[in-house]
Amino acid sequence: MKRYAHIIGWGKYAPDRILTNDDLSHMVDTSDEWIRTRTGIRTRHLISEGETTATMSIRAAQAALEVANVTPDQIELIIVATSTPDYLTPSTSCLVQDALGATRAAAFDLSAGCSGFVYGLSVASGLIRAGMYDTVLIIGAETVSTFIDWTDRETCVLFGDGAGAVVLQASESAGGVLASVLGADGSGAEMLYVPAGGSRRPTCADTVAQGLHFLRMDGRQVFRFAVNVMPIASRQVCEKAGLSLDDIELFIPHQANDRIIQAAARALQIPAERMFTNLERYGNTSAASIPIALCEAVESGLIKRGDHLVMVGFGAGLTWAAAAMQWSMPWPVPPQPWWRKTLRWLHYRWARLRSWALRTLRRLDVEIRKPFNHEMEGESQSQREERVK
Ligand code: ACO
Repeated sequence: MKRYAHIIGWGKYAPDRILTNDDLSHMVDTSDEWIRTRTGIRTRHLISEGETTATMSIRAAQAALEVANVTPDQIELIIVATSTPDYLTPSTSCLVQDALGATRAAAFDLSAGCSGFVYGLSVASGLIRAGMYDTVLIIGAETVSTFIDWTDRETCVLFGDGAGAVVLQASESAGGVLASVLGADGSGAEMLYVPAGGSRRPTCADTVAQGLHFLRMDGRQVFRFAVNVMPIASRQVCEKAGLSLDDIELFIPHQANDRIIQAAARALQIPAERMFTNLERYGNTSAASIPIALCEAVESGLIKRGDHLVMVGFGAGLTWAAAAMQWSMPWPVPPQPWWRKTLRWLHYRWARLRSWALRTLRRLDVEIRKPFNHEMEGESQSQREERVK
């Protein structure tokens, strides 16, 4: 029996704190007029104390699970697409797995810049179609604000923080993710990168003094690349899915710059209304931009059951990615009974308790073993062999 991968749940999270163009004009030499006309951005959301890529991912994931009416123990795989993880290691997806109490789930992070979410969607739908998993949670989440040099006007005006998530599930009904196109060109690595903090240039006082832990970008080059690659990837994915551009009710492009999106619409010869945009309110949230835009498009009634969509992104790497899909969910989704919401709430409390108990047990285990370890440290090899006998 042929298997298909359908999006059955979606959710987003944007921090409460909002930074306007006027706020930025007091921080660097810029203006609301410059930012609006060159990018289309008016405001962006930024994390507050205590918020991270993981905490935003968890909020978006909980919303997606609720729409999907899926419990965390049904999730078999969690993919977090991010370039701004909580830690270099462990992966942010493991933190999400723990907080959700998704005890059956494998988890990994995916780094493909702003293309990361569509990369994740493509990988997950392949695994579902191959029969390896039935239910996968894919999240795109970024706290770009923590990697930005807030004195560099060429980058700080562009980005925002946020997270978006979808639940992808196996089905025998045709539709869902129909095709995807992924690409990379590492020769453009330095067009958008964080020079230090990795194995090539580990963090030290010198790298910090030079600001090498901040995002560097060649804006003009990235612009040229994006305008070129978005229409190509969109055409390729439609062809692969056996669709024409006219079959696509809505394009959901990566929300980097309104001029890039309009140029892509012109190159594809489609009306601007078929390109969804919300970057005016979010700025560029990197891997989170497409899932956040998808949520808003669905929730504003722009996507109906049976509609064909193309999600298309580009980003650091350089990378690009496009996915064509047929939407299969109704909107609005039927409301859930109160007891299901209560069970969900209880599950997340239990997950927190479980995490605390496991950490405590691990610490206790170390403490209990300590005296024995000391005793054993004084043993010679022959004494150890004697004891083991
Ligand atoms: N305010 C005022 N002036 C500015 C600002 C600012 N914030 N930033 C740059 N300028 C100035 C420049 O210094 C330059 O001045 P000059 O002519 O005296 O040298 C002038 O404005 C024009 O600069 P350009 O770089 O030519 O401006 P451009 O029209 O190309 O817009 C921008 C710059 C918005 C960065 C654009 O190139 C862009 O959007 N590029 C793509 C960026 C992008 O999408 N990045 C994310 C990729 S996805 C990911 O993986 C994260």
